[in-house]
Amino acid sequence: MKKLEERILKEGRALSKEVLKVDSFLNHAVDTKLMYDIGEEFKKYFENHNITKIFTIESSGIAPAVMTAFLMDLPMVTLKKKTSKILNGEVYQTTVHSFTKDSDYELTLSKDYINSNDKVLIIDDFLANGEAAKGAARLVEEAGAKVSGIGIVIEKSFQPGREILEEKGYDICSLARISKLDKDVIEFIEE
Ligand code: G4P
Ligand code: NA
Ligand code: NA
Repeated sequence: MKKLEERILKEGRALSKEVLKVDSFLNHAVDTKLMYDIGEEFKKYFENHNITKIFTIESSGIAPAVMTAFLMDLPMVTLKKKTSKILNGEVYQTTVHSFTKDSDYELTLSKDYINSNDKVLIIDDFLANGEAAKGAARLVEEAGAKVSGIGIVIEKSFQPGREILEEKGYDICSLARISKLDKDVIEFIEE
């Protein structure tokens, strides 16, 4: 997505070879018009996939997911990150490890908001190691539903997430694919 790549080049900052800071439009301040355009792009890619629900993971996935859900006229559900297990039968839970943050959380979904007929599109802001998306997919599949797509705003293609999710057979749409990060260097995969 050209407009997104231009914005990343203009305002993104590579903090290291691994981490891109995009606080001015995605992770802290949120450019709602850009989020709307992102929603249009995901809609274009996924509109014939028979999606029934949009899932995201709190918190930075919410802005792009809400625009996509609005534009596709679909319900949206935010998966919660809990610090501990909930010991009742009302939720699906799975432990997700974040390599970037070196911590674990319990990704949580109420059984009220999924059923086995659902075809779910998972949307998130970043794809790094794929742990969050894999966790979301585990919850969907534990409910007997199907992951019909994964929509990512910024993919760091030099990290293994994309490949891991592709090997599992998921259909992934990443709007910006970064091939290289370094001090003052941000490069995209040519498509
Ligand atoms: P993974 O799911 O692909 O394995 O990624 P990982 O756990 O390593 O990512 C942990 C958190 O860091 C996630 O946000 C993710 O969106 C974010 N993240 C990963 N790489 C980058 C990056 O290069 N730049 C920025 N800005 N964020 C990155 P989170 O803390 O789980 O949630 P939230 O920020 O959505 O609240
Ligand atoms: Na995130
Ligand atoms: Na984040």
